[in-house]
Amino acid sequence: MDLEFSNGKSEEKKIPDPCVMIIFGASGDLTERMLIPSLFELYSDKLLPENFAVAGFSRKEMDHETFREKMKKAVIENKTHCEFKEEIWEKFSSGIYYFIADYKRTESYKYLLTEILKIENEKQTGGNRLLYMAVPPDSLNEIITNTGKSGLNKEVNSGSWTRIILEKPFGYDLESAVKLNKNAGKYFREKQIYRIDHYLGKESVQNILVTRFANGIFEPLWNRNYINHIEITSSESIGIENRGGYYDNLGALRDMVQNHLLQLLGYIAMEPPSTFDPNSIRDESLKVFQSLRPINEAEVINTVIRGQYTGSKIKGENVAGYREERGVVPDSRTETFVALKIFIDNWRWGGVPFYIRTGKRLPTRVTEIVIHFKSTPHHLFKSKSDIAESYNMLVIRIQPDEGLLLNFAIKIPGSDFKVQNVNMDFHYTDLKELALSTAYEKLLLDCMLGDSTLFIRADAVEACWKFIQPVLNAWKDDPSIIVYGYPAGTWGPECADDLITGHNFIWRYPCKNIADSHDYCEL
Ligand SMILES: NC(=O)c1ccc[n+]([C@@H]2O[C@H](COP(=O)([O-])OP(=O)(O)OC[C@H]3O[C@@H](n4cnc5c(N)ncnc54)[C@H](OP(=O)(O)O)[C@@H]3O)[C@@H](O)[C@H]2O)c1
Repeated sequence: MDLEFSNGKSEEKKIPDPCVMIIFGASGDLTERMLIPSLFELYSDKLLPENFAVAGFSRKEMDHETFREKMKKAVIENKTHCEFKEEIWEKFSSGIYYFIADYKRTESYKYLLTEILKIENEKQTGGNRLLYMAVPPDSLNEIITNTGKSGLNKEVNSGSWTRIILEKPFGYDLESAVKLNKNAGKYFREKQIYRIDHYLGKESVQNILVTRFANGIFEPLWNRNYINHIEITSSESIGIENRGGYYDNLGALRDMVQNHLLQLLGYIAMEPPSTFDPNSIRDESLKVFQSLRPINEAEVINTVIRGQYTGSKIKGENVAGYREERGVVPDSRTETFVALKIFIDNWRWGGVPFYIRTGKRLPTRVTEIVIHFKSTPHHLFKSKSDIAESYNMLVIRIQPDEGLLLNFAIKIPGSDFKVQNVNMDFHYTDLKELALSTAYEKLLLDCMLGDSTLFIRADAVEACWKFIQPVLNAWKDDPSIIVYGYPAGTWGPECADDLITGHNFIWRYPCKNIADSHDYCEL
């Protein structure tokens, strides 16, 4: 499809105020793979202020220059759309600093503050500070407290801002999430807190709102009268890589469903907000989370299927089972796959099942939402068609191959009235002139601009945990709830199919290409 679009060059770019971004966990994976490369892309696109600096903190021994060299390599390896230009890097990296500090020690914060003041003075950043928590989740409360006690949470002067970005997971369960929110609320106003879920930074996720609320054709059909059921699938082909010890304490429900997939559900199911401002949108998705029909512990066995990958062969290569992975206990019952059937008890969605599934070591890496519309009331072409009933389907592809696909019936050319379903599809890659920003670029920029629309509020975090908690409790309390094995490289346990076939549907088996059919992907 050839498409022409304005690339927005005529629009004035919004540039944030001068500021210092203070990264806790600067020697870690997130900083290296996501944060610094995204900042460099923004800088290359001239979207960062001239007076901008990064101050990284962690314990690893490095001087400024070693850190800059490490970040340069990371930028070259992880860059997305911008060409790497040495002269731009030189300019950008002159504002990157690294300090050795242990966030468990209170004296570290005094040291940090002294160094930040020096940078602020040199770079004239006006006292605006963005604190980024790229640290292990169990240290968040301690850092927030120390930050607060040392005064790093305060706004420096009446015109400046201090914001804090928290990385997921936001707590380990409902109780710890409430505790984390309470502690964060003690030292920061909710307005200062930006809880990041990188799924919401993806163009295709934001496009859910545009598809629904900027088109007259979809919204009238977007309800129980016309929609039969909705699927949300997020599959990964990789296993747990080197994160065995970390993942074994987490599992797919906490890692994917509680945050990313429920956030997608919020966008799919929300009522139209009256205005496009952060709180209107977040109020509406909160109402969705609050309307989720609670899953009581006794029902978990029927409505939630958990699985764990077992050893198998993929493309002729032996692949280890989850329990054989390093860092995983040999009798682990942690789920690497989960499928759920859920309902939203409100006027719009009464009776419409939503099926969510996610897993590791599945045949391909895909995240997509499939809206299955109801069949026509009368099957006029039944005798002419291979398809018993005519359903329409809208696929919203989040990754990879971001885009939209509408599946509908046509008459096959010829003398007879033969009917077949075909696809009309749009890929973001069709917009050749417009490079897609990564989610972290979008979200970092939004935070610096003070736009919290795509960040998660404390009440939404708690509402999602409240929904998930009975499932976690049932799994913990009832050893009779099976963890089904599934061979690595398949679409999860067979009983996950039963969850949906019980209603005479089947999962769509997505391939890397959005327009591929229901066929299983090649392994
Ligand atoms: N990596 C990703 O792709 C990704 C994606 C989404 C979300 N996240 C979230 O982002 C956060 C960070 O993840 P990550 O993968 O970057 O973790 P990581 O690689 O383990 O990095 C953790 C960082 O914390 C620092 N640290 C640990 N203890 C410290 C201490 N006592 N004092 C000072 N610094 C200390 C470490 O540095 P030193 O050991 O040098 O002190 C390191 O820089 C986590 O909450 C994770 O869930 C990560």
